[in-house]
Amino acid sequence: MARHEDLRGQVAIVTGASSGVGWQSALRLAEAGVRLCVTARRQAALERLRVEVLQRGGECLVSDGDVTVAEDVERVVRECVAHYGRVDLLVNAAAVQSYGYFDQLPWEHITRVFDVACFGYFRFARAVLPHFRRQGHGHLLNVQSMLAAGSAPLLSAYASAKHATLGWAQSLELELAGTGIHVSNVMVPSVSTPMFDHAPTMLGWRPVPVPPTYDVDLVARAVVRLAKRPGRTSVPAFLQGRLMLWLNGLAPSVGKAVLSRFGVQMQTTDMPLDRPEGNLFIPVEEGVGPRGSVPPTPAWKRFTATLGLAALTGGVVGGAVLGARGLLRAAR
Ligand SMILES: NC(=O)c1ccc[n+]([C@@H]2O[C@H](COP(=O)([O-])OP(=O)(O)OC[C@H]3O[C@@H](n4cnc5c(N)ncnc54)[C@H](OP(=O)(O)O)[C@@H]3O)[C@@H](O)[C@H]2O)c1
Repeated sequence: MARHEDLRGQVAIVTGASSGVGWQSALRLAEAGVRLCVTARRQAALERLRVEVLQRGGECLVSDGDVTVAEDVERVVRECVAHYGRVDLLVNAAAVQSYGYFDQLPWEHITRVFDVACFGYFRFARAVLPHFRRQGHGHLLNVQSMLAAGSAPLLSAYASAKHATLGWAQSLELELAGTGIHVSNVMVPSVSTPMFDHAPTMLGWRPVPVPPTYDVDLVARAVVRLAKRPGRTSVPAFLQGRLMLWLNGLAPSVGKAVLSRFGVQMQTTDMPLDRPEGNLFIPVEEGVGPRGSVPPTPAWKRFTATLGLAALTGGVVGGAVLGARGLLRAAR
């Protein structure tokens, strides 16, 4: 596995950098000495990020654009290479989601979610790959979601786009084996970014992430670790991460039972909200910077929930074992 413990002087393009994971990852990468080209649609927000990066002693080129417009994507990569002479790392983070029951989501919401959260990743990868191949090295780092390995009600378009993006990244990794070009993924749990302050909703209520919610820096630090040791899939959270994946393998019925019973309730509040389009097609002012209005879940609550989940799974697994024993006895 390639290691780049010292990232100083490397050049990274970070998409979705005007808020959330992209913003915080850009800051962390800059602290590690990476020279940045940051992109999203909101230029004023990117300029604010640039000021923060410069204050921390970093270098930052702003190149705004829309990931659904191929010419924008190609221009961003061209400007980055013209400015720095190279590009070593692409952090794909731009995404949108739309809350609603599948049959009530407008069709254009479904296709737009795919166009941004899935095809936007493809477009940027296709634009940097010729440079990576010419250089003989490069790193495609994709900000994925725990939903790429799972599911949630009200987010069918987003979850399926994330499944597709993970499948694409894993296939690409096989194609690029031995070329010096690496593909990494970070499986992001619910994080307290502005995503929930500008996502469209068909529900008429303010949406919130599936708890527990983590601080965005958990993901940004994972991005830097992957930049240093590419070619891996990182699952930075424990409860809504490694434990959840393990439990889904062991007792998939537990997660399914919880999400089908409480998944809608978990993601909605009783605060009325009329935001049918949010930032889906046109960028909005709300939600600039790394953190949003939903605070992270306190650590003690995460700990209590972990214990509860372990007890529930123990009960289900224990019940299944006892049931199987009973069946065997009856069969004898
Ligand atoms: N927050 C979570 O709980 C969570 C959970 C799992 C995975 N993730 C993943 O983390 C990544 C970042 O999400 P986030 O939480 O940081 O959300 P966010 O704060 O809403 O950031 C999304 C970014 O994408 C940009 N964007 C949206 N549409 C675009 C377009 N058409 N062209 C270019 N840029 C566009 C937005 O900027 P502009 O509006 O300025 O274009 C913004 O910078 C996404 O891949 C998301 O799926 C987040």
